[in-house]
Amino acid sequence: MAHDMGRINDDMAAYWMPFTPNKAFKANPRLLASADGLYYTSTDGRQVFDGSSGLWCCALGHNQPKIVEAIREQAGKLDYATSFGYAHPAAFELANTLAARMPGDLNHIFYTNSGSESVETALKMALGYHRLRGEGHRTRLIGREGGYHGVGFGGISVGGMVNNRKFFGAMLPGVDHLPLPYDSKMIRSNGQPETGADYADALESILALHDPSTIAAVIVEPAAGSAGVYVPPKGYLERLREITSRHGILLIFDEVITGFGRLGFATAAERFGIEPDIITTAKALNNGTVPMGAVAVHKKIYDTFMDNGGEGVEFFHGYTYSAHPLAVAAAQATQSLYDELDVYQNVRALEGYFADAMHALAEADVIADVRNIGFMAALTFRQIDSKPMSRSSQIFARAFENGLKVRLSGDNIAIAPPLVCEKSDIDLVVDRMQKTISDVG
Ligand SMILES: Cc1ncc(COP(=O)(O)O)c(C=O)c1O
Repeated sequence: MAHDMGRINDDMAAYWMPFTPNKAFKANPRLLASADGLYYTSTDGRQVFDGSSGLWCCALGHNQPKIVEAIREQAGKLDYATSFGYAHPAAFELANTLAARMPGDLNHIFYTNSGSESVETALKMALGYHRLRGEGHRTRLIGREGGYHGVGFGGISVGGMVNNRKFFGAMLPGVDHLPLPYDSKMIRSNGQPETGADYADALESILALHDPSTIAAVIVEPAAGSAGVYVPPKGYLERLREITSRHGILLIFDEVITGFGRLGFATAAERFGIEPDIITTAKALNNGTVPMGAVAVHKKIYDTFMDNGGEGVEFFHGYTYSAHPLAVAAAQATQSLYDELDVYQNVRALEGYFADAMHALAEADVIADVRNIGFMAALTFRQIDSKPMSRSSQIFARAFENGLKVRLSGDNIAIAPPLVCEKSDIDLVVDRMQKTISDVG
């Protein structure tokens, strides 16, 4: 790359980069200068297709004029307003907009600034809800192996990605994990695997061990993203819902990735026809333009706080930037565009084309598995000399050289193009990926 490496490397020391091998990156940086539509432009002037929608968030592509305008206008009108004891009208309007897109009775919205904060908020709501109902003995939280729920202590406790946990002590007490519903019978499934609903029965064993009356909530990603796109087997989520409902346990769907169109519907809950008690969102909520998350909550939870939470503050929780005016303006513009451009329908219409393209790619010998649903897929690359990430990290780096930005997670390369993609864009992803696979070998 044509960077002035010496100068950049000197300048790079101060920035401690997140979830990045800092030393390797700074020796060979991938620098993005600007973005427009479906492409980034690198600092050395190359057009790089955004095959990961930013980080699963830029569903409409970049520099969307209506979103840019909404943010600009808002910045000149009301740049900041606290949400503690004050509010601005657009926050209520957006809550109505979002509530209308959530399934069933999930019609109350709490604003955060990220997926991690949405998760922490949801877990606290679950614990508080039970306590206010006189069931303060429900303190245990159940997550899942391989789950990613952000980086707060609650999120890493219920999460199941080992590197995100092992450095950070004992975490929250009273947390258990379901197994990841995935095995060799599911390899190369297209969409939801036919087998594996019985993985949900592991919940019965956990309940038998602790007694159901001690469990506050189960949290899962309805379709897991960050660990490498794991799609729920047919009947699995239904069974989780049935067991949790039977025992008065809240079911939280972490839809930070799947929320707002990734699976062709506003939520994965809608796609799978299941109503959880809480849905966490962020990312595509406002096209990733301004940090924002939102938690959608069932009426019974909101009502419990309102009815039993006392005369003062009903829920001692919130963020300085909850309902930040710029984030809210961007979200309202984004949500309007999802409707105007019929974006979710585009995903439904092209899901089969995308799936076929991913499965055709995965015929390469170096690929051990492919998993996909909606506009997300992961290719699992075989390791070289049994070294974890040996091939996938080379693919990741080479793809960028070949003009394709993807997401690396262990031995997986995740592909999650913007939701406004056309067939020709999917073809381009395939071409660049095929070239990358043959370059790396
Ligand atoms: C399911 C899920 N939950 C939570 C998060 C954390 O979101 P953030 O990085 O915005 O804190 C992510 C991020 O990828 C996610 O995929």
